[in-house]
Amino acid sequence: MKARIIDGKLVSERLRGEIKAEAARFLAAHGRPPGLAVILAGEDPASEIYVKNKITACESTGIKSVLHRLPACVTEAELVGLIESANRDETVDGLLVQLPLPKGLDEKRILSRVSPDKDVDGFHAVNAGNLLLGNPCLAACTPSGIIELIKETGLPIAGKNAVVVGRSNIVGKPAALLLLQQNATVTICHSRTADLKSVTKTADILVAAVGIKAFITGDMIKPGAVVIDVGMNRFEGKLYGDVCFAEAAETAGFITPVPGGVGPMTITMLLKNTLKAAFARAK
Ligand code: GUN
Repeated sequence: MKARIIDGKLVSERLRGEIKAEAARFLAAHGRPPGLAVILAGEDPASEIYVKNKITACESTGIKSVLHRLPACVTEAELVGLIESANRDETVDGLLVQLPLPKGLDEKRILSRVSPDKDVDGFHAVNAGNLLLGNPCLAACTPSGIIELIKETGLPIAGKNAVVVGRSNIVGKPAALLLLQQNATVTICHSRTADLKSVTKTADILVAAVGIKAFITGDMIKPGAVVIDVGMNRFEGKLYGDVCFAEAAETAGFITPVPGGVGPMTITMLLKNTLKAAFARAK
């Protein structure tokens, strides 16, 4: 294997140490810990795991978390009522509604009710718009984690060709904007891109966020590239990325593993956003 592994668990541990110290500083200055409210509606098994991991991460860094569980049959009015009460709660700095929502609930309309200054997922149109404009904002967690992992290589981002495969609002689009902010030359590819391989082969930085197991093969990678695999594809009880790791690792310069790459960083950036929101609100 040629590629060096970018260890997301290790980077996360280091960052969580810094976050813990900052949370203690917040507590000393304001007489209360930074607070995160999590709303979980329904019983999606993957969401249960994600939310449990978020709560545990808060506990280990000195952020006070409150979990609101709602049944799958919750009405939009009830859910919005809970969001608005968390918006008003002075001890809540960050508020997130775990996705996917149960069937019948309008995700866009519900997420638009989260106060933008508490929107630690960075999903609200105000934060997405400010990211586009290059204004200060709460940026989406997975894309922020991707930037941290690329920086971990020690290689510059400015002037590099970055190719993002995937155009979701949660990962692909914000990842492209953050790379642009770092002065990369950015291309976004998607399911309708013609001759995808000819584009990915130009990537000094390749971000794979398509949600298809082993979609990116070794022949699609430029020698020495930094490959960031955002995929979380469950297959026969195991987790697989969007990149064929065994092949890619023979060509890439750096690569993130799945699990243990981007995954741990998403929650770490959520903690970081919660701190950022807390300090901004306490000003
Ligand atoms: N479901 C899967 N990923 C996420 C995330 O980052 N935030 C929320 N709120 N829900 C998710």
